[in-house]
Amino acid sequence: MEKIIIEGKTRLSGEIKVSGAKNAVLPIMAACILNDGENTISNVPDLADVRTMIKLLETLGAKCEYSDGELLIDSSAIRSYKAPYELVKTMRASVLVLGPLVARFRKAEVSLPGGCAIGERPIDQHIKGLRILGASVRLEDGYVSASAKKLEGTTVPFDLSTVTGTENIMLIASVCEGETVILNAACEPEVVDLANALNLMGAKIEGAGTDIITITGVSSLGALSDYTVMPDRIEAGTLMIAGALNESNLTINGCRFEHLGALSGKLLQTGAWIEKNGDSSIRVKGAAEIRSIDFSTLPYPGFPTDMQAQMMILMCLADGMSVITENIFPQRFMHTAELRRMGADIKLVGNSAVVRGVREIKGAPIMASDLRASASLVLAGLCGTGKTEVSRIYHLDRGYEKLDEKLRSVGASIWREKE
Ligand code: EPZ
Repeated sequence: MEKIIIEGKTRLSGEIKVSGAKNAVLPIMAACILNDGENTISNVPDLADVRTMIKLLETLGAKCEYSDGELLIDSSAIRSYKAPYELVKTMRASVLVLGPLVARFRKAEVSLPGGCAIGERPIDQHIKGLRILGASVRLEDGYVSASAKKLEGTTVPFDLSTVTGTENIMLIASVCEGETVILNAACEPEVVDLANALNLMGAKIEGAGTDIITITGVSSLGALSDYTVMPDRIEAGTLMIAGALNESNLTINGCRFEHLGALSGKLLQTGAWIEKNGDSSIRVKGAAEIRSIDFSTLPYPGFPTDMQAQMMILMCLADGMSVITENIFPQRFMHTAELRRMGADIKLVGNSAVVRGVREIKGAPIMASDLRASASLVLAGLCGTGKTEVSRIYHLDRGYEKLDEKLRSVGASIWREKE
């Protein structure tokens, strides 16, 4: 295993390019199960989760080639409809093959994803949607076993906004006879990216990005040719916060400003200076005095839960008290114990964290627990006095492409060592 070492308090300055979005490329890769062709996808980030999804597709029989951001998925030889526990347990997003496998084989056996550090991750809405479309679904021996004699489009009303739940139903409904209308659909940009890719395969999807998505089923889908994955808005947001620390001055290129409204608004309220150059470049300058603000996580376009841990770092060094409320994953506070080890003043009250700003946090050995918490610990190391060692950074490598190298390129004193 590896750890990341950071000498903190360095003012960062320069430009960083954002990679392709993890949470967009994973469902698009799963969508390739729906056709029998050679799919080519570009701007694919080199992440552990992408490599896990490649392994999963190869387990099903696909042939994959990945190099330098270009991914080829030949799905003509997919023969299996079973997604094994060994792979699913390492990546919850494996549940995204459930819908496509039922669509392709009229049956599927996908291991239940199980919980993770940010909380119990139920898939009852995914199952509800599959049953409404005509599948019979059983949960046994830790697996979801689904089968369907006939799949028929109809209305699928979700009880809550679920990103991968919306994506799973969009995937299977694309090739379901008839029209499917998803009510209370997730509006995240990654859902839109998947819909764009499916439509390029020949699907007929309208309304992606709103809470009502209409899918008119088609008999078959063609292969994807050279689809470019959207930029990762969570990586962009993480880098924006790096720019707001230590009075840094960072330009984040290759992002989409329209995906970053909630975060930008909150960052401005803390006193950071933000300037957009066109739609795909944002410059952030950190303020000498960081103002405390309250924020709550919400489904898109609200403040993203995937940015909660990172924004908390800024609040640890702000000039007052900040109340951070986590409405999506109420237990998503594993990072607070590690931040307290650095001298942060954080109290958990239900699904909120009350943060009192301190003058400084001190570098210390800390341990990553999940993907976004690990990013927040790296940010903490950047603004901590002295040396910080972040262990278990395999969590970070699941969702960030060479984050340490990118930060080093703009002046951070950061490197990797074997644990
Ligand atoms: C997606 O997870 C993202 N992952 C997550 O990013 C992100 O945090 C999350 O959406 C929220 O934006 C991918 O896209 C691969 P949900 P997902 O279903 O789809 C509850 C990261 O760091 N729920 O939108 O699993 C659920 O418990 C990851 O990149 C049910 O109750 O999240 C949660 O409280 C972490 N039943 C809420 O809905 C269900 O059937 C939202 O979850 C499904 C979800």
